[in-house]
Amino acid sequence: MARKPGPPGRATYDAAPNIALVKYWGMRDPVLGLPYNSSLSVTLDRFRTRTSVRFDPELVSDRFVLNGIDTGGRPLESVHRFLDRVREMAGTRSAAEVESTNNFPTASGLASSASGFAALAGASTAAAGLELSPRALSRLARLGSGSASRSVFGGFVEWQAGRAADGHDCYARPLHGPEHWPELVDIVAIVGRAPEKEVRSTEAMQSTVATSPDYRSRIDSVPDRLATIRRAISQRNAPRLFHAVIEECDDFRRVCETTVPTLDYLTPTSRAVLATIRELNCESGRPVAAYTHDAGAHVHVFTLSKDASRIRRRLEDVAGITRLLTLHPGPDGRLVRGPGGAPATR
Ligand code: PMV
Repeated sequence: MARKPGPPGRATYDAAPNIALVKYWGMRDPVLGLPYNSSLSVTLDRFRTRTSVRFDPELVSDRFVLNGIDTGGRPLESVHRFLDRVREMAGTRSAAEVESTNNFPTASGLASSASGFAALAGASTAAAGLELSPRALSRLARLGSGSASRSVFGGFVEWQAGRAADGHDCYARPLHGPEHWPELVDIVAIVGRAPEKEVRSTEAMQSTVATSPDYRSRIDSVPDRLATIRRAISQRNAPRLFHAVIEECDDFRRVCETTVPTLDYLTPTSRAVLATIRELNCESGRPVAAYTHDAGAHVHVFTLSKDASRIRRRLEDVAGITRLLTLHPGPDGRLVRGPGGAPATR
């Protein structure tokens, strides 16, 4: 599709959030954002972050407008630090104006940092005149937020932890595009009165590494579980996938809950959703759905489209859910508008 050329120094990029089926939780190198384990996620449709970046030598400092609001504090600091890396790569000292909008609630536990930093990586590099391969873009996005490395790609994505100390082998790669399994549905239960995150994920996960007695055994068990989940996706084997996704989510929650001080992201409503899915699977005599959640209270329920309305009806009976959204595997990140018609980065 033809892309509209924009003025030099300016570019716009769209990226979608993702939900991890195998979680990233804990970094072996917090400066370079290198994780202990590989992770696997589904990029979602319907939701996106759209970010425009404009480098301007006349600007005194970076500016960050999020959902129409001039934003300072920590979010601006993270954007500034990220742009410093892009400036270093591009050999420029210009400050930038960043405008970002989410078509879903920001910081609602719907992974706005994943789509946010993937979109910032795509827009800022294109605006600076850099042409990065998708793999290099994923590596760069990782430095803003680990899960952002996966949002560069659509469909089913694996972020390989790598082994190298400099992180050159630590990036995400697409396993299958969204068309691989369109019958797979993610019903997101938006939970009312979800508490604001007290500790940022990057800090919380390092506290798990340092204090949870179960962390070591988690790291030992993830590779096998990841292989099972990767195979179940490739064979479109729903019962096997749902069983393994529940096991992985429970393991992730266990290391959070055994962290000192404990990390408890769920509300009674979130827990009621988990119980409903366990009941449904028990009644059906096989796994017909899986639940998973990130470091937040909302719960993603995976099922097949043929079972989706039955499962939605059961979830409608859970008190405290404010909305049920039905999502599917979604698209790659994409450059919407590049500077002066320069070639696309992907
Ligand atoms: O990428 P971060 O720093 O927002 O951490 C993401 C952590 C989880 O969402 C809990 C797991 C994951 O792999 O997305």
